[in-house]
Amino acid sequence: MTSAPYLEDPRPDARMLPPRAAVRSDAPRMSLNGQWRFELSPTVEEAPAGFADPGFDDAGWAQLPVPAHWQLHGYGKPAYTNTRYPFPIDPPHVPTENPTGSYRRTVAVPADWAGERIVLRFEGVDSCFAVWVNGHEVGTAQGSRLPSEFDVTEVVRPGADNLVAVRVHQWSAGSYLEDQDMWWMSGIFREVSLLARPASGVEDVFVHAGYDDGAGMLRVEAPANARVLVPELGIDVAAGEEVRVEGVQPWSAEVPRLYDVAVVTPAERVELRVGFRTVRISGGLLTVNGNRVLLRGVNRHEFHPDRGRAVTEQDMLDDVLLMKRHNVNAVRTSHYPPHPRFLELCDEYGLYVVDECDLETHGFVHVGWRGNPTDDPTWGDAYEDRMRRMVERDKNHPSVIMWSLGNESWTGRNLERMYRYAKDRDPGRPVHYEHCPDGRWSDVYSRMYASQAETDLIGRREEPARGVDPVQDAARREAPFVLCEYAHAMGNGPGGLTEYQELFEAHPRCQGGFVWEWIDHGLRTRDAQGREFFGYGGDFGEELHDGNFVADGLLFPDRTPSPGLHEFAKVIEPVRIAGTPDGRLRVTNLHEVLDLGHLRFPWAVEEDGVEVESGELDVPHVAAGESVELDLPAKAGGDAETWLTVRAVLAGDEPWAPTGHEIGWGQVRLVERPRGAALPGSGAVALDRVRGVLTELAGLTVDGPRLDAWRAPTDNDRIPRDSAADAWRAIGLHRLRHRVVDVRDEDGGVVVRTRTAPAALDAGFLSTMRWVPLAGGGLLLDVSVQPEGEWPAPIPRLGLVCSLPAELDGVTWYGGGPGEAYPDTRRAARIGRFTSSVDALQTPYVMPQENGRRADVRWAELTGGGGGLRIEALPTGEGDPGTFAFTARRWTSADLDAARHPVDLVPRDRVWLTVDLAHRGIGTASCGPDVLPQHELHAAPVRLRLAMTPA
Ligand code: GAL
Repeated sequence: MTSAPYLEDPRPDARMLPPRAAVRSDAPRMSLNGQWRFELSPTVEEAPAGFADPGFDDAGWAQLPVPAHWQLHGYGKPAYTNTRYPFPIDPPHVPTENPTGSYRRTVAVPADWAGERIVLRFEGVDSCFAVWVNGHEVGTAQGSRLPSEFDVTEVVRPGADNLVAVRVHQWSAGSYLEDQDMWWMSGIFREVSLLARPASGVEDVFVHAGYDDGAGMLRVEAPANARVLVPELGIDVAAGEEVRVEGVQPWSAEVPRLYDVAVVTPAERVELRVGFRTVRISGGLLTVNGNRVLLRGVNRHEFHPDRGRAVTEQDMLDDVLLMKRHNVNAVRTSHYPPHPRFLELCDEYGLYVVDECDLETHGFVHVGWRGNPTDDPTWGDAYEDRMRRMVERDKNHPSVIMWSLGNESWTGRNLERMYRYAKDRDPGRPVHYEHCPDGRWSDVYSRMYASQAETDLIGRREEPARGVDPVQDAARREAPFVLCEYAHAMGNGPGGLTEYQELFEAHPRCQGGFVWEWIDHGLRTRDAQGREFFGYGGDFGEELHDGNFVADGLLFPDRTPSPGLHEFAKVIEPVRIAGTPDGRLRVTNLHEVLDLGHLRFPWAVEEDGVEVESGELDVPHVAAGESVELDLPAKAGGDAETWLTVRAVLAGDEPWAPTGHEIGWGQVRLVERPRGAALPGSGAVALDRVRGVLTELAGLTVDGPRLDAWRAPTDNDRIPRDSAADAWRAIGLHRLRHRVVDVRDEDGGVVVRTRTAPAALDAGFLSTMRWVPLAGGGLLLDVSVQPEGEWPAPIPRLGLVCSLPAELDGVTWYGGGPGEAYPDTRRAARIGRFTSSVDALQTPYVMPQENGRRADVRWAELTGGGGGLRIEALPTGEGDPGTFAFTARRWTSADLDAARHPVDLVPRDRVWLTVDLAHRGIGTASCGPDVLPQHELHAAPVRLRLAMTPA
């Protein structure tokens, strides 16, 4: 029993006005954003009675900004669940404890609005509300991320102060349809406005602007008395009239050409920016203007670490610019329509959008989909209403190339209603939906987290049948393939992007996809000591939560790009530069429409990481999809290892990035690394002969090295059932013990043999470390590691850990950089010389885990406090590049493993250096395929030779 029956009624309120396009109009509009009087009540019943009356005294109430979530302003707490409803599954009922916010404000309506039709518009209210004007109830609505409008003409008093009162409920029937993997947060979180709607204005407008055979086609649905003006094209036609326009430039994500269009009646002028483009599925491919598109996409939730989903225009612009600067060309608006301004920005800057409806009922999976509203006709109107409100609002955006019915709502009749609505109203856009087992209600074949192997089969149209209907199965097999989610970017990773991209480029049917996801949803908060960190599930006292699964983006919560975003940008670079087997350079243009005329190609030659020559490459015209082979611009001279780096950078300013912005690069090795010979000298090896470890090295007090086979589990190691990390812990890799087998003086050096193994296991590693003093100081280490016994599982690493004085806080290395790199996340690391502090080597994942590894390193120096250590790898023989990887930290792997937030990592009084002989890949097993076989690490013999000298 609730005193507000509308909130448990899924049917849309008939008082809501028909939805229409979001447009810019010259009709009068007042923003109702700003401070509202606010009070939060624990139940609907306890909400202040009579609060909607103009005479109600709210002087004692606090104020809350609109738009905002009340949980981020000290009222209640945010709560995070992935799929589980945080209330009993009892549709359409919701808990009696239903936090209810009462909002009040007055608005002075201009006297000259008298006689106009007046409309109150909400862009987004989570999750359900009722609204009163001057004490009269004007309507209710659900559909948190959808607009709603109410006619308030009868109750508004122009020329006077008017009271607007809104009662917002955290839970409603609508909550069952809004089980997206994100924070549960409530309130009026998008704009509110009051509109004066002129009689015979442009109530709605639907622009159809296609592009075919080199010409545009324009037809605008609008009131019959409206004219359509496109001054730039000399167009002035009546609404509904179809015109063919020769010579228009088409719109695409690469060239987002827009034309200003005005739709005008004597009473109102509406302005739109229109792009001519045609989306079609033909020949089993998704095309825009006839070109196959390759979606280099991301899933975007609206998020800001302080504001939640109440994002500002600047937040949206930041997202768009960051996407464009990292070669992203597509966005899926997971899993609800975004703020309307975001779509304007996508039109303007050029991003393909899959506009997704505000629908997800994933929580029903936990009861075998019993009672799922998707197949329950009593919810049919609610489903169709949601689709309608999205399609009508967003139908004029060229960036929107597909409609999506929603996410993870299983299957049923109500999806058919949504699908039909979209197809009937807007035949010009394909419809997407992933979660029907047989692919019904989708014009594309969409999947999430399909492995690379399965994607390959799909690319060949040889995938196993899905569903039982052979006709449906055949139709699906004909359809283009899109990974609506892949490469789960949680914590360190995602690994395996390259292998996906290769498939997207090899199989025309595989038209790319959308990385899950764009940004970590970590909410800025503080611990008991006042230290700031990004909170995740459980940090706000939730009884049911899904931990840091909410932090799985390519951006950190504050929008700092993570290493995963740098890797993604490199993997999807639209220009690929690579050496050919016969010593030339190939430049491949992977754009959809652009040639390379907008780019310059600076090059540099570096010997041992130091630039010795540079210039600019002359690249001839290369059409989209073509490539060219060129002579190398420089020849090698010296003896040192020498690399040529060629970069593709913007030749001029683009709206999204300045001249010189890099979009791609490639490297060619001109001179191989010489076999460096470290000269043996004489001297003592400062060794703890009991423990078999050095006590002094290069004049520094050291402790180590010891063999290590552990890494602080990443989210991908840790999260899946029967995870890799479970196996490592069961074996005991995090508690290895060392038994010195023998210490022998030999050939002027010392040989230490140590057996390293966990308690309770009969397998181990025998390491042989041969230490020889070097002329000029320091030691030569030749280490080989031999597994013994049967190792029950693959392992994360084989490395040597040594602690060094804390003063060594500067790092310079020659190898892969500047960022972290693992065997399956190393595309963005180029060979060069880099410097960093120890602190800056760390990647602050929202949940601490293995990070910061620098790979393919030839030599590295740690310096500080007047001393230093240089480590140089010396090739051991044929096929050994003579490289290592390292991490350097002020804490141990055990500290990293124990920490829950970066603030838990308190620097100790040493620096721990780990030199890797071998390391496992990262994969994406937190949701999706694990490390690919070629990046797995099995216990096997490894060897490394290092010269360790004073720096
Ligand atoms: C998908 C879902 C996303 C997100 C992701 C895991 O199944 O569609 O919303 O939950 O898994 O992070």
